[in-house]
Amino acid sequence: MSIDGYIDGASESRLMLSNELDFDRVDRVRSGVDAILVGATTVRNDNPRLLVRDPGRRRHRVRRGLPEHPTKVTVTERGRLDPSSRFFAHDGADKLVYGSSCVVDLLQRRVGHLTEVVDGGEPVRMRELAEDLHGRGVRRLMVEGGGAVHTQFLADDLVDELQLVVAPFFVGVPGARRFVGEARFPWHPDRRARLAATEQLGDVVLLRYALSERYDDTPDFVRPAR
Ligand SMILES: NC(=O)c1ccc[n+]([C@@H]2O[C@H](COP(=O)([O-])OP(=O)(O)OC[C@H]3O[C@@H](n4cnc5c(N)ncnc54)[C@H](OP(=O)(O)O)[C@@H]3O)[C@@H](O)[C@H]2O)c1
Repeated sequence: MSIDGYIDGASESRLMLSNELDFDRVDRVRSGVDAILVGATTVRNDNPRLLVRDPGRRRHRVRRGLPEHPTKVTVTERGRLDPSSRFFAHDGADKLVYGSSCVVDLLQRRVGHLTEVVDGGEPVRMRELAEDLHGRGVRRLMVEGGGAVHTQFLADDLVDELQLVVAPFFVGVPGARRFVGEARFPWHPDRRARLAATEQLGDVVLLRYALSERYDDTPDFVRPAR
C-alpha cells in the first residue's frame, strides 16, 4: 500500500506500488503456498497471472510433489468474470471460482469450461470458503487482495499472518481503493497485533504481523511434500 493506505489509484491503469525486489519476494511467497485468492474486482481490474514466475521455484515445487503453480481462487457475487482474463489462461494452474448461489448457473455457462465453479452459499462467507479449500487439501492460502477481500478475512479473524508492504509515496485521490474498508477488526487499541519482523527491500518496507499462533516465521515456508 501507499504511505496513506491505498492499494490502487483511481485511474484505469494499474498502480505499481512494489519494486522489483518486492515482486521477487512475492514470487517466493507464492511458491510456498497451496492456493492464491483474489477478489473478482482484482481479476477484472488488474488481470493478474497469479503464477510462480521463477522457473527454479517451480522446479522446487515439483520436486516436493506439488503442482508447478498454486491453485488460483477467486470469489464473485455478481458472476461478472471474463473467460479471456489471465486468471483462466491454459497455464497449468488449477482454478476455482466461488460464486454466490444465485450466479452459479451463470458462472457455469461463462467459465465452467475453464474452471471448477463452487456454490459458495448466499452470501459467500470467507470462513466457509477457507474450510472448503482446506477440504481440498489447501493448507496455506495466500490472499492477495483487494480491499474487500482483505477486509473480510481480517475482520473474520481468519488470518495467521499479515504481510504489509509500504511504498514510499502518497495516492490521496478520491475513489482510490484502500488496503481495507470499514469493519470491526479483532486488533484495536486494546488488542494490539504482534509485529513479528520487518525488512527493508530497496525503497519499500515489509512489515510482518503475527495474527495467530499459527504464524510461521520460516522465510520460504519450506515444508515437507504431502
Ligand atoms: N496493491 C496491491 O497489492 C493490490 C492487490 C490486489 C488488488 N489491488 C487493487 O485492489 C482493487 C480491487 O479491490 P476491491 O476491494 O475493489 O475488490 P476485490 O477485493 O479485489 O474484489 C471485490 C469483489 O470480489 C467479490 N467478493 C468479495 N467478497 C465477496 C463475498 N463475500 N461473496 C461473493 N463475492 C465477493 C465481489 O465480486 P463481484 O463484483 O464480481 O460480485 C466483489 O465486488 C483493484 O483495483 C486492484 O488494483 C491491489
